[in-house]
Amino acid sequence: MTDLKPARILAIETSCDETAAAVLENGRALIASTVASQMDMHARYGGVFPEVAARQHVLSIVPVIEETLAKAHMTIGDMDAVAATRGPGLAGALVVGLNAAKGLAMGAGKPLIGVNHLEGHIYSAWLHAADEVPPPEPEFPVLALLVSGGHSELNLMESHLTYKRLGATLDDAAGEAFDKVARLLGLPYPGGPSVQKAAEEGDPAAFKFPRAWLEGTYNFSFSGLKTAVLKEVKRLESEGKPIPVADMAASFQKAVIEVLFEKTMQAAREHGVKDIIVGGGVSANTPLRNAFLSQKEFKVHIPPLRYCTDNAAMVAAAGYFRYALGHTDGMEIDILPTWPLS
Ligand code: KG4
Ligand code: ZN
Repeated sequence: MTDLKPARILAIETSCDETAAAVLENGRALIASTVASQMDMHARYGGVFPEVAARQHVLSIVPVIEETLAKAHMTIGDMDAVAATRGPGLAGALVVGLNAAKGLAMGAGKPLIGVNHLEGHIYSAWLHAADEVPPPEPEFPVLALLVSGGHSELNLMESHLTYKRLGATLDDAAGEAFDKVARLLGLPYPGGPSVQKAAEEGDPAAFKFPRAWLEGTYNFSFSGLKTAVLKEVKRLESEGKPIPVADMAASFQKAVIEVLFEKTMQAAREHGVKDIIVGGGVSANTPLRNAFLSQKEFKVHIPPLRYCTDNAAMVAAAGYFRYALGHTDGMEIDILPTWPLS
């Protein structure tokens, strides 16, 4: 429980390929959450097809909101505010969720809150199901590692809603690297879970893939690693040898995790934090979670798997803190397809 004013938030998320809505109390207690995934629809393209995503959000948004309110046994009148992801994300997708939120907020006379999707991933660390004992709340200053399909960055948070970017990827995001390497290895979309699964049967020491440590910075780079995997695949193919998919997946995954883990630990030490948050789709990766959960130096907050990949509960959590701290928006706000946290 926070010491901020109580509030119930309805949140909507449509930044990429999930149409989602959630009802959350006091920034933490999740009453209802619905995620309609379009994953199967995009799998045949090997990635998210923006036009298809936007169209599908239009079809799903009303049923998803209705289902969420029905599961909560509530109406829009029971909410204190309506939140929606404003960015970053696909323009045609964002516009569907933000406009739905505007319509609901205007119709019911509720405040509107535009939420940064990345902020949502970080605030997923506050979530718990309403009927569960709340996990410990992150205590500031907090170091947040955000690893998703579009972003990989380390942010220092001295207090709620403040972000000091310590470093970010110079090229591919961690999730993007998983997705691209999956494609190289002939594994299905989305790449993260399929690489993880293939890696379970593989030897992480089979291939010595490079680690871009970028010493003296907290930046990341994964494109060299991806290229190293590509070169190895090409070399084996030219020699007419089979691709050892499991060994390659395991060796690639180990290289990504090692860099993410070590650099986060180093940043946490340097900045004297006690608490680390790991959020974003890649935080669903079991070996990455295990690396953080098995160390004893810091208190690590990693949300349960269902809150790692895109959902609206996390948008409601970030939306709650924005609302409680007085950051509501006017109806004139527009989507922000590019919206850095800091
Ligand atoms: O946060 P998210 O759902 O969407 C974005 O905001 O981008 O993250 C999606 C990314 C994808 O690149 C996906 O491959 C990756 O998260 N991902 C994983 C795992 N589950 C999802 N990466 C590694 N291991 C996983 N288990
Ligand atoms: Zn996301």
